[in-house]
Amino acid sequence: MVFLDAPGGTQVPRRVIDAIADYLARNSANTGGAYRTSRNTDAMIAEARAAMGDFLHCDADEIVFGANMTTLTFAMSRALGRDLGPGDEIVLTLLDHDANFSPWKALEEKGVVIRAVKFNHDDCTLDMQDLAAKIGDHTRLVAVGYASNAVGTINNVAEVVRLARQARALSYIDAVHYAPHGPIDVRALDCDFLVCSTYKFFGPHMGVLYGKREHLKRLRPYKVRPSSDNIPNCWESGTLNHEGIAGIIACVDYWEELGRRVETGLAPSETRQAASLQDGRANPAVTTRRAAILAAHEAIHQHERKMMEKVIAGLLAIPGLKLYGISDPRRFENRCATFVVRIEGHTPLELATKLGERGFFTWDGNYYALNLTEQLDVERLGGFLRIGLVHYNTTEEVERLLEALREIVG
Ligand SMILES: Cc1ncc(COP(=O)(O)O)c(C=O)c1O
Repeated sequence: MVFLDAPGGTQVPRRVIDAIADYLARNSANTGGAYRTSRNTDAMIAEARAAMGDFLHCDADEIVFGANMTTLTFAMSRALGRDLGPGDEIVLTLLDHDANFSPWKALEEKGVVIRAVKFNHDDCTLDMQDLAAKIGDHTRLVAVGYASNAVGTINNVAEVVRLARQARALSYIDAVHYAPHGPIDVRALDCDFLVCSTYKFFGPHMGVLYGKREHLKRLRPYKVRPSSDNIPNCWESGTLNHEGIAGIIACVDYWEELGRRVETGLAPSETRQAASLQDGRANPAVTTRRAAILAAHEAIHQHERKMMEKVIAGLLAIPGLKLYGISDPRRFENRCATFVVRIEGHTPLELATKLGERGFFTWDGNYYALNLTEQLDVERLGGFLRIGLVHYNTTEEVERLLEALREIVG
């Protein structure tokens, strides 16, 4: 099997599976109780917040756990919406996954005006001029994706945050697709909120929200009366997925270990080997968990970039194939290793099915990037075939995929 659907969810390392099972076997309990397994659960959740704090570069009490990004975003849109009404505006983009669109669009019920930013159809990049023009005196929030889960474009979110701040609007960044591909630094970005999902970066099926402490304290979540008024717990309604949270610690451990073992500049095969060594060489540049995570990202970046060149060159050589998004190697810094294509005479479903039969797991359709497929007029044609790579994929897998595609297309 070749897993080429990382944008839908990544495979997990054994340690994540073990951590989930171990929690359920030894410590399964609710929080806040006066007995050992409950206290262990409290300590474990605190540890997971600190781990995610290092992953995103924030404090532990700015980390909110939830079922997934969509649920967290609906909760935040409802809370923010309490203070919004007619005359207020929210800026969204047509490039985004619907989970960073519909929760905000729902506030139209309160009279909020939605202003949707266009994207350039030729290379599927965000139209920054349109974005700047749509942000104004009435803008209260700008919600933008860090990277597109369809066409792979990486947006200039630092600039988006700056424009939002200039207009005294809040910024809400959907980093779900970006998280496995690039380092996230909420402090450097100075965004107000950022969301991601651990199942997209080798962890369990859960969502994580970063909120600036001042906002988490000021805003009023919808909650039940007996639950805590303290942040971040007041944002986590009901009992959380504790075993999943145990898996998140193991997931961040995996990132840390990867960074401690890889040395940037290694060839992909060596990187892979180094990452799986039991007693690999230590990376001397790595002194903290955060530094290790950044080192892991650097190695991943180099490996993904090499694969990217191979995939794009190979895909473009297939007769009748159209690749959507950035294809110029000089602009590869602005995209990640997620590719969508259409091939003349073949529906995306047909291609995904034929690839699936050969052991290549891809996806077809719109992947909830609905505005994008509608704008490009492919929604009525079955969307795209998507091929999504992460660091556990290899150039050899890429070659096999291209060969299979060539064979299917004939
Ligand atoms: C870019 C992006 N945003 C949001 C989501 C929704 O995430 P979740 O499944 O955690 O709700 C996805 C899921 O595919 C995504 O790719």
